[in-house]
Amino acid sequence: MNEKKRKNQTLELIKNRRTIRAYDPKPLSQEDVDTIIQGAMRAPTAGNLMMYSIIQVSDQELKNKLVKTCDNQPLIAKAPLVLLFLADVQRWWDYFKVSKVGEKCKEIGKEFQTPQESDLLLACCDALIAAQNSVITAEALSIGSCYIGDIMENYEIHREMFNLPKWVFPITMLCYGVPKGDKYKIPLTTRFPKNYIQFTNQYSRLSENDFKDMLKNDPRKMIVKEAENMGQQLYLGKLGAEFTVEMRRSVKVALREWLKKD
Ligand SMILES: Cc1cc2nc3c(=O)[nH]c(=O)nc-3n(C[C@H](O)[C@H](O)[C@H](O)COP(=O)(O)O)c2cc1C
Repeated sequence: MNEKKRKNQTLELIKNRRTIRAYDPKPLSQEDVDTIIQGAMRAPTAGNLMMYSIIQVSDQELKNKLVKTCDNQPLIAKAPLVLLFLADVQRWWDYFKVSKVGEKCKEIGKEFQTPQESDLLLACCDALIAAQNSVITAEALSIGSCYIGDIMENYEIHREMFNLPKWVFPITMLCYGVPKGDKYKIPLTTRFPKNYIQFTNQYSRLSENDFKDMLKNDPRKMIVKEAENMGQQLYLGKLGAEFTVEMRRSVKVALREWLKKD
């Protein structure tokens, strides 16, 4: 196969990906699971430090519990493969400890800093980029996937469930499986026009008319009964909804824990 053709196949794969929430219950082969994880691990990673860990959640009881702790999403219990992506700098600070980095810093008069906000954000970048690589790898195997952002809720419960140390944060989770039925029957979701997403050189805030234009072909339905327009619908239905309020609370607790001086 020539290089051009191979590239086009990759583009087709990216263009046709859609989130898959219903799976054939048959387990994935170990070979496919390994390929998905290897795909994740080939992702770019800051300083080649791989500041993430991946937990494969195979225990059905844990999966059932995750349904509840992640805003009641039954697909988690039914997914043949569930991977939890952790932003992880604990590994490095544990290694620094055994490497006596603190002692060395003292000896040479350098401050030994513990992980801070930037380390968390960098580790989240690593974990999310690995996660998305796994999504594309799965697609290449005709395996669909669904992100579960609600894993950022209920931090205290998840920390306990997965034995997470202080400098590990569950940034995302993915469910994978062979799509049940014809995935092409699931319509591709729309995206906003490019001019509202991609700017050149300078950031550009949008006017009321821009918003009207940006949303004019948006197929989203008005579901919240109090909402009179799309802005109210999106706030009441998503960014002000109960699950978001819980996520904000949970992440605040996790951040406080992360930054706590022992
Ligand atoms: C960070 C993130 C979190 C998400 N969390 C959920 C989730 O908890 N449950 C779910 O069903 N879909 C979740 N999704 C999937 C989105 O709803 C989906 O990507 C979006 O509606 C666009 O659809 P598409 O992926 O088919 O293009 C999440 C996606 C991302 C990127």
